[in-house]
Amino acid sequence: MRALRCNPPGGSGPLLELVELPEPQPREGEVLIEVLAAPISPIDRLSLRGLYPLRPASGIPGAQGVGLVVEHGQGVREPEVGSVVLLPVRVGAWCERLVTPAETLVPLSAHRDPVRACTLRIEALTAAVLLADLEPGECFLHSPGAGSVGRYLTVLARDRGLRSVALVGTREPIAELWGLGADNVLVREPGVQARLSALGLGLPRVAFDGSGGETSGLLGSCLRLGGELIVYGAASRKPVQLPVDQLVFKDIRVRGFWLHRWAETAGYARMRSELEALAAMDLHEQVAARFSLDQWPAALAMAEQPGLRGRVVFTPAKTS
Ligand SMILES: NC(=O)c1ccc[n+]([C@@H]2O[C@H](COP(=O)([O-])OP(=O)(O)OC[C@H]3O[C@@H](n4cnc5c(N)ncnc54)[C@H](OP(=O)(O)O)[C@@H]3O)[C@@H](O)[C@H]2O)c1
Repeated sequence: MRALRCNPPGGSGPLLELVELPEPQPREGEVLIEVLAAPISPIDRLSLRGLYPLRPASGIPGAQGVGLVVEHGQGVREPEVGSVVLLPVRVGAWCERLVTPAETLVPLSAHRDPVRACTLRIEALTAAVLLADLEPGECFLHSPGAGSVGRYLTVLARDRGLRSVALVGTREPIAELWGLGADNVLVREPGVQARLSALGLGLPRVAFDGSGGETSGLLGSCLRLGGELIVYGAASRKPVQLPVDQLVFKDIRVRGFWLHRWAETAGYARMRSELEALAAMDLHEQVAARFSLDQWPAALAMAEQPGLRGRVVFTPAKTS
């Protein structure tokens, strides 16, 4: 069984190596999974470089994925052999096969494209949880609008009757985001506050910031008095930059959000019910390219290209 193993970050060697490992055998309560799709998400890119607080437990990266149940260990009845399932988070999905407790799997419809469902576990769940505290009909702002979390925020907002304004770096994704159901899409450039006011939506109470850097201040400047900037990431890799007058004169509150912490606090049952709801919806990742495991240098290089739209996805199973 082939897998990608990560080397300690900061070393002079390659980040990953393709290794041959013993075939995993499902024990009692476990199932054997053939991995159909495993994306290269920001969490993977950060953890490969030691920039994420959690390292892949098994030494095999791949924080999320979709697989096919191929064998049951003793005592397992469900999910049935042949089911397509969402894998548990941080399972080490950059491999051909793995074993995991049956109870950690969330079934997907057999008709779904597993590759396009490969980010439900982290990016879609992040978006769903971020939106959970908004009032019906409420308008919110977010950036990067065309990122994976941003696209899910747009689609889920439409589904929940919320009004979304996506901020994007270039005009290129605007038409697509309109198609996904964005109420408005604005390019991050001077004058964005005036354009937001002109939309007549009223100033939002909440902005979700996955960009960091100067975008944080731009989002903050668009909020109403006492508004809240919820920082969930930093695609720019820059610290949050917020002018002091937003904190002092506008009383803008800033807080972070981390899905891992939310899952610890909310508990397994709540997380599972959120995931089951997402799995039942018609949600799709934008896929930039599919690669086999042995093509990992090209896959990683593409995933790190500035301006890339969509996810690079490993499709390790021979059937995919
Ligand atoms: N807190 C959590 O639990 C959690 C969960 C999931 C993700 N995250 C984090 O949230 C952030 C967004 O995640 P995602 O999955 O949506 O990311 P993504 O799909 O990789 O986002 C891509 C977008 O980020 C912007 N971007 C990419 N490179 C950039 C750069 N060098 N400088 C400025 N902007 C850049 C671009 O949008 P524009 O052109 O519009 O700027 C691009 O469309 C990441 O930092 C990720 O680690 C956190």
